[in-house]
Amino acid sequence: MQITHNASLKSYNTFGISAKARAFISVTDIEMLKEALHLEAYPEKFILGGGSNMLLKSDVQALVIHVALKGIKTVKETADNIWLEVAGGENWHEFVMYCVNHGYGGVENMALIPGNVGTAPVQNIGAYGVELKDHFYSCSAIHRTTLEQRTFSLKDCCFGYRDSVFKNELKDQYVITSVTFQLDKNKHELHTGYGAIQQVLNEKKINYPSIKDIAQAVIAIRSSKLPDPKKLGNSGSFFKNPVVPKTIFETIQQKYPEMPFYPVSEAEVKIPAGWLIEQAGFKGKRFGDAGVHKNQALVLVNYGDATGNEIWDLALRIQKEVHQQFGIEIQPEVNIIE
Ligand code: EPU
Repeated sequence: MQITHNASLKSYNTFGISAKARAFISVTDIEMLKEALHLEAYPEKFILGGGSNMLLKSDVQALVIHVALKGIKTVKETADNIWLEVAGGENWHEFVMYCVNHGYGGVENMALIPGNVGTAPVQNIGAYGVELKDHFYSCSAIHRTTLEQRTFSLKDCCFGYRDSVFKNELKDQYVITSVTFQLDKNKHELHTGYGAIQQVLNEKKINYPSIKDIAQAVIAIRSSKLPDPKKLGNSGSFFKNPVVPKTIFETIQQKYPEMPFYPVSEAEVKIPAGWLIEQAGFKGKRFGDAGVHKNQALVLVNYGDATGNEIWDLALRIQKEVHQQFGIEIQPEVNIIE
């Protein structure tokens, strides 16, 4: 096994933070993964997927295990559905495009989300009215210390908004090695109602959209609002949209009648954190190499050489301002690595 010491993680995290790993290994099959998990010389292990949902505040002392498992396999097929088992190291967007190009429906609204397939269930990624859980069938995972292999069903994963069992009871316990999706070959119901999808279709005069049309609309919307991590380091939404009691929402709404919102239940409302951050005056602001994106205030960006601590200081400043102005605590969506 090839272990690299003092390895740069800059190209392994979409924020483009120049942190180092004391030791780094890339695993391309399950046996290698198990061997790496059992390396006694490194008691602490850090599992790295696409590096798209984390902020590295400092160098990583643990052994970084980069999951580079590849492959897409058909495990079952009927007239209407197909079940694909996708290895954890596959790039998420490439998998979406594989489905779109084969005419398999289900994940097209999630085109262009950065990251890998194996880490997508951890935070139940989602966009434009569809979440990973909607077409998730099961996932396979290896326990980090016992090396036991376990299959998790949809129910086992306890998916919620940007949430799963892997962020709670089973946090840091398993490495997801593959995810099986149940996709539609026929009778696929398209989701065009969220955000600007319908507007883009209207502009292009598409009355009967295909799966590909939806993916292309999502790609156009995301590219216009969200920075490409290859050009400007970022981690997508830095904060989660806060869910607040209706009473609090109504008090704020009296002062800001134009505030966008999504009802969650009888008693709770979700408010876009991007709107709160914009109101707090941060949209497009830059502090050294750390900044808030000009088109979407929910996204923090690295203009080049920002350190993890600089990005984190900005996040704390935003959190404090939003709290002062609205009385709402916004919480990071990305994992903060100390
Ligand atoms: N808004 C502002 N100012 C901003 C940003 C947004 O006023 O700077 C307002 C918009 O005008 C809109 C509302 O906030 O009325 C919602 O904005 P948007 O549709 O862009 O979605 P979001 O709630 O900000 C969420 C996800 C995104 C996902 C989009 C589309 C979270 C934390 N983020 O953003 O996910 O792409 O919906 O479904 O739920 C990600 O997780 O990395 C991510 C990009």
